Amino acid sequence: MKIDGVPYRSLWWSEAEDALQIIDQRWLPHDLRIQTVRTLDEYADAIVQMRVRGAPLIGATAAYGVALAMSNDPSDAALSAAYDKLHATRPTAINLRWALDRLRDALGALDPDRRKDAALALAHEIADEDVGINHAIGAYGLDLLRDIAAKKDGPVNVLTHCNAGWIATVDWGTATSPLYQAHDAGIPLHVWVDETRPRNQGALTSWELGSHGVPHTYITDNAGGHLMQRGLVDLVITGTDRVTRRGDVCNKIGTYLKALAAQDNGVPFYVALPSPTIDWRVSDGIAEIPIEERDPREVTHIQGATEGGIGEVRVTPEGTPARNDAFDVTPSRLVTGFITERGICEASEDGLTGLFPQEAKR
Ligand code: MRU
Repeated sequence: MKIDGVPYRSLWWSEAEDALQIIDQRWLPHDLRIQTVRTLDEYADAIVQMRVRGAPLIGATAAYGVALAMSNDPSDAALSAAYDKLHATRPTAINLRWALDRLRDALGALDPDRRKDAALALAHEIADEDVGINHAIGAYGLDLLRDIAAKKDGPVNVLTHCNAGWIATVDWGTATSPLYQAHDAGIPLHVWVDETRPRNQGALTSWELGSHGVPHTYITDNAGGHLMQRGLVDLVITGTDRVTRRGDVCNKIGTYLKALAAQDNGVPFYVALPSPTIDWRVSDGIAEIPIEERDPREVTHIQGATEGGIGEVRVTPEGTPARNDAFDVTPSRLVTGFITERGICEASEDGLTGLFPQEAKR
């Protein structure tokens, strides 16, 4: 997508630097800072510190991290060490393991002296694939939005949570791809953007939508149900960090409450789902998905980029105990459907394996 008219991806390989470049998202929406990532420690730090974030982008970054490791030392031991170090960065988004498994399996089958070039080629492939997948999700989501627009006067009001935008992926975003494509197709649209405390990923979504000219309004996390009761939300579209075989959806904390409110108000609740985000090995999302618990300081303090650097202000009394679960699980029964790169399906094992038959249990 474009920033000030210049096309960007959220990461790219610089031939001049012979290294990966990322947008350091901690500084958005205030400042566009590009970082060159040169060591495995810097790759892991970029993911841990959320310089890069969002499930698909974490996966793509890790793929380049393995490529970096292979350029230094293509041995089995180095491959395994890079896998472990990157895998330990964040626990919930399955795209991380998906990308690492893909590299480990492909590179493990090669002689070490062929791994450096193969790893970089595979990382590029994963990044390019992500762009194609998200574009396809957008095309299917566009049909959905077009159908809703045809049945009403005025803009289609979409509510979204967190940032499942182009900077959470390599490009296009998952939940935002239908929004960009609908806007470009002239479908009248308005987006309610949940602020998404404590990291305020909604501010990133607002920045993205504003840069693309998509009408939107930033709201508190608790406003969605109220707006739905007043008929001000036509549908919800969120991204996801991991979807189970039976269609349970793990996404940013607060997603579950939006799904409950949507069901109570008869508002369709869709999840934009790229196939690398499906964890075919697990079924019960509540029991089987590890939920990242982050520093409680993100809750007791409000943080953000300031003129003096990344700053914070305490909002609770000193010493207040706090807990910071970063994700929650929405049971499949609350999900109207998945918008995938192969089409839209119901949130169930049958729905998913109907689109991805190679994953059906034999
Ligand atoms: O903690 P984050 O910012 O990495 O979490 C991101 C989200 O929860 C997104 O909504 C999700 O990854 C989907 S990204 C296309």
